[in-house]
Amino acid sequence: MSSPNVAVIVVAAGSGTRLGGAEPKAFVTVAGRTILERALDEVFAVVPPPQVVVVVPADRVDQTSRNLDGTTATVVAGGETRQQSVACGIRALDPAVATVLVHDAARALTPSSLFQRVVNEVVLLEHGVVPGLPVVNTLKRVDERDLVQEELDRAGMREIQTPQGFPRDAFVASHESATNDYTDDAAVFAAAGHPVSIIEGDHRAFKITTPWDLRRAEQLLAHPVVVSGAVVGTRTGIGMDVHALDDTRPLWFCGVYWPDEPGLAGHSDGDAACHAICDALLSAAGLGDVGSRFGTDDPRFADAPGADFIAETVALVTGAGFRILNVAVQVVANRPKVGPRRTELESVLTALVGAPVSVGATTSDGLGLTGRGEGVAVVANCLLASGVSAQS
Ligand code: CTP
Ligand code: MG
Repeated sequence: MSSPNVAVIVVAAGSGTRLGGAEPKAFVTVAGRTILERALDEVFAVVPPPQVVVVVPADRVDQTSRNLDGTTATVVAGGETRQQSVACGIRALDPAVATVLVHDAARALTPSSLFQRVVNEVVLLEHGVVPGLPVVNTLKRVDERDLVQEELDRAGMREIQTPQGFPRDAFVASHESATNDYTDDAAVFAAAGHPVSIIEGDHRAFKITTPWDLRRAEQLLAHPVVVSGAVVGTRTGIGMDVHALDDTRPLWFCGVYWPDEPGLAGHSDGDAACHAICDALLSAAGLGDVGSRFGTDDPRFADAPGADFIAETVALVTGAGFRILNVAVQVVANRPKVGPRRTELESVLTALVGAPVSVGATTSDGLGLTGRGEGVAVVANCLLASGVSAQS
């Protein structure tokens, strides 16, 4: 394989004074994994794989190298300031590298897509490229007593993030010639007289600086759709069930008893809503369906309540490493009437599933087996999170 021509220097050698944790900031955990690990997850997802240089406090080099064993990352010790830490990373650059990105480990949730966009723009423009977002708050300059001195026009302002990308040779030279200590690499590069362009940043690239930011990161990770993009880490499922009415049986439906209503036929208690929920959960997890999991020839399920099916299914799905995020149920039937008992049904099913369950209902306008009142049909779908239960 040819050597990568893009490198990402991940600076993680700060102490994290403002976060105030017991560990240096990059080694503080957020939802079960360190800030550095989370930042590197996204760096390693960049295509084609870049050279990765990780800059950590000197006393963390051995530990970090061990943790990154088996990856292509190079681990080096950092310096007193961020700029010095970047300089330490520069010394480890592979000769084949033509484009260098510098990234704060503290921006732990920055998606790999932002790295890709920065690389593309550097190659296109052949100068510095940094992500930035418009400033939303009003800006004022104050003196040391917090007295307002000046109004600043936020329209021309951008909040700058990382990764910041540069053509290698000009970037390395700008670091070597720098006489001031700057808080980002675009300033070092610009001080050497080179242009820097801004591309649109990403809200997920915010910097974890204070305990408040850490909580924000934890909250975002509790909703993997937001953190990992629309698809990664989630799976949807769909289930459907139909049972014929049987007025010799009691009606159990949506996990509750319905007096004075005809029951549903079936090997079990015929609770089509519970069965549709199980099918949705099993399909999302890739675990088959109710028929293959709880066969009609299995005596354990003769007259079994729908609640038992849900309990077994939830155990299977969570045992396979999924977390259930929500379930939506749609009943198609003339009766029973869901509306008057909706709140009760939702709370019973929510307790059984261990995640929010919503229940809606419709008739089929007199058409088909549900319209003729011969049976009920239920459709359910669900959303599962994968790969988060062990980590968050
Ligand atoms: N950084 C570094 N070496 C330093 C200082 C900072 O590698 N000597 C890194 C940090 O690890 C962080 C990034 O630069 O990923 C941005 O710095 P900042 O958010 O200020 O982190 P800390 O300096 O660790 O935090 P604080 O300023 O609150 O002490
Ligand atoms: Mg700092």
